[in-house]
Amino acid sequence: MRPDVPTAGACDGAGGFDDFADIRVSTLLPEDAPLIEALEAATNLSFWGEDNYRRFLGELPEYFGRKLARRVAGATRLVGFSLARAVYENLELLKIGVLPEFHRLGLGTRVLEATFEEGVRRGCDRCFLEVRKSNRRAIQFYGAHGFQIAGARLDYYSNPTEDAWVMELRL
Ligand SMILES: CC(C)(COP(=O)(O)OP(=O)(O)OC[C@H]1O[C@@H](n2cnc3c(N)ncnc32)[C@H](O)[C@@H]1OP(=O)(O)O)[C@@H](O)C(=O)NCCC(=O)NCCS
Repeated sequence: MRPDVPTAGACDGAGGFDDFADIRVSTLLPEDAPLIEALEAATNLSFWGEDNYRRFLGELPEYFGRKLARRVAGATRLVGFSLARAVYENLELLKIGVLPEFHRLGLGTRVLEATFEEGVRRGCDRCFLEVRKSNRRAIQFYGAHGFQIAGARLDYYSNPTEDAWVMELRL
């Protein structure tokens, strides 16, 4: 089955989704913002929107991200991404998502590890994040990478209102 992947332009040709060796991890850029917004919707992440991604990535140096992308028939297709903020020793993982068609293939791990790598390069020794208490898949994913629950935030999320777990990992 061919996944419905956000594209920068041209349609893909026949095939091209049979293996994942051509998916590369690279730096998320402000000009990726329209694709990130599409991916945000496809991965069911809370809405930040194109303008915010462009601004955070273009104007605020503490924010950075990584993307999983492939070139198909001359167009860039995003399969996953992360967005993080590095402040002193703290790396805050703000967003991570992989298209559902590509789950459980190790791609989330690739983008997470690339994000850690950049965080450590910037001097971080601790990563923390918030996650909806109902998001068992993500909690399992973070747990598989060594994150532990460090606390909770009441009514942290809206639409629907829900508590968050705070999870933490020593890098
Ligand atoms: C969380 C997410 C990024 C994981 O991406 P992924 O590419 O599927 O993750 P990986 O294939 O690298 O999984 C690594 C390990 O995490 C754990 N894991 C991942 N998804 C899991 C699931 N649905 N159930 C149980 N464990 C899971 C497993 O231990 C897995 O290793 P295994 O496949 O060898 O058993 C992805 O599910 C996603 O995009 N979810 C929607 C967006 C989201 O909720 N983001 C987090 C918001 S806080």
